Amino acid sequence: MLILSFESSCDETSVSVTKDGKEVLSNSVLSQINIFKDYGGVVPEIASREHVKGIGYVFEKALKDADTKIEDIDYIAVTEGPGLIGSLLTGINAAKAVSLNEEKPLVGVNHLSGHIYSSAIDHTLTFPLLALIISGGHTELVLMEDHYNFHKIGMTVDDAVGEVFDKVARILNLEYPGGPLVDKVGKEGEIIYELPRPLIHLANYNFSFSGLKSAVLKLTQDMEKDHIAYKIEDVARSFEEAVADVLLERTLRAVKEFSVKEVVVVGGSAANSVIREKLKDNIKNVILTFPSLKYCGDNAAMIGISAYYKIKRGEFADMSLSAKSRLDL
Ligand code: KG4
Ligand code: ZN
Repeated sequence: MLILSFESSCDETSVSVTKDGKEVLSNSVLSQINIFKDYGGVVPEIASREHVKGIGYVFEKALKDADTKIEDIDYIAVTEGPGLIGSLLTGINAAKAVSLNEEKPLVGVNHLSGHIYSSAIDHTLTFPLLALIISGGHTELVLMEDHYNFHKIGMTVDDAVGEVFDKVARILNLEYPGGPLVDKVGKEGEIIYELPRPLIHLANYNFSFSGLKSAVLKLTQDMEKDHIAYKIEDVARSFEEAVADVLLERTLRAVKEFSVKEVVVVGGSAANSVIREKLKDNIKNVILTFPSLKYCGDNAAMIGISAYYKIKRGEFADMSLSAKSRLDL
């Protein structure tokens, strides 16, 4: 089964061809990161315009890279939300146009389910499964007894993990998006600052990161006020350790309580080296899966993989499919 999928929920325009819910034949991605460096974050109106400019190119490239013709495609899938409305619209309208024109069934995919299924690329998932989603817009713990059976057991009550990486990067005068740069400078730093691990002792599965962000701000401001020289590398590394500790504690407790067999860690911040190492070193006796780095950030391949399991359930969309800025799993 060949699926042509579209993803345009934030600042990546992407089209992919996937086969049988497992194999990626092509994954064409146009990122707007370079544009938003000057703004320090995504500007929705600019993102929408860039998607319109780029979608035709990534569509043709995805088919070409997969050495596939549109006639050979069986289904069309697209991210319907959550995301930026103006951004989502481009992918949705393109997918509808192709579906109508080529008479191929249309499937609407939840972006977060896409992130979860990025872990099923070239890999068979084992249930019950726990998904830790850590992206720029979301931080959630999701329990799955089977495919497409999503139970959200915890979420952030304020900032998402990627968002707090971006905000801490700004405090340290690093460019947007901050995650990759905090990761890079942190490799040269040491864990020398004591930072809070918010909510870590509460007996639920929620997360909070805004207190940690404020603590980093206060730490750097206090040192500057007192003319104490510091290395941003050490602040970055200490901050990453605090984030990784919180993620580990929550994940480990859920692994035990729900007797899961596999943990998948997905989303943009699943690329972080400290988080990866900490979880790998401490989560034993269950399968621990991280998508390869190129599938951590937003991409259409994960949407195609997720769509496969929705198609197996016989769940299709029609031309009334609309963009949803908020959409739960
Ligand atoms: O999943 P994603 O591409 O988009 C959303 O759906 O939000 O995630 C983007 C986020 C950004 O906040 C970025 O800073 C973060 O992922 N990120 C990282 C790393 N690479 C990207 N965070 C920590 N460490 C990284 N290496
Ligand atoms: Zn995402």
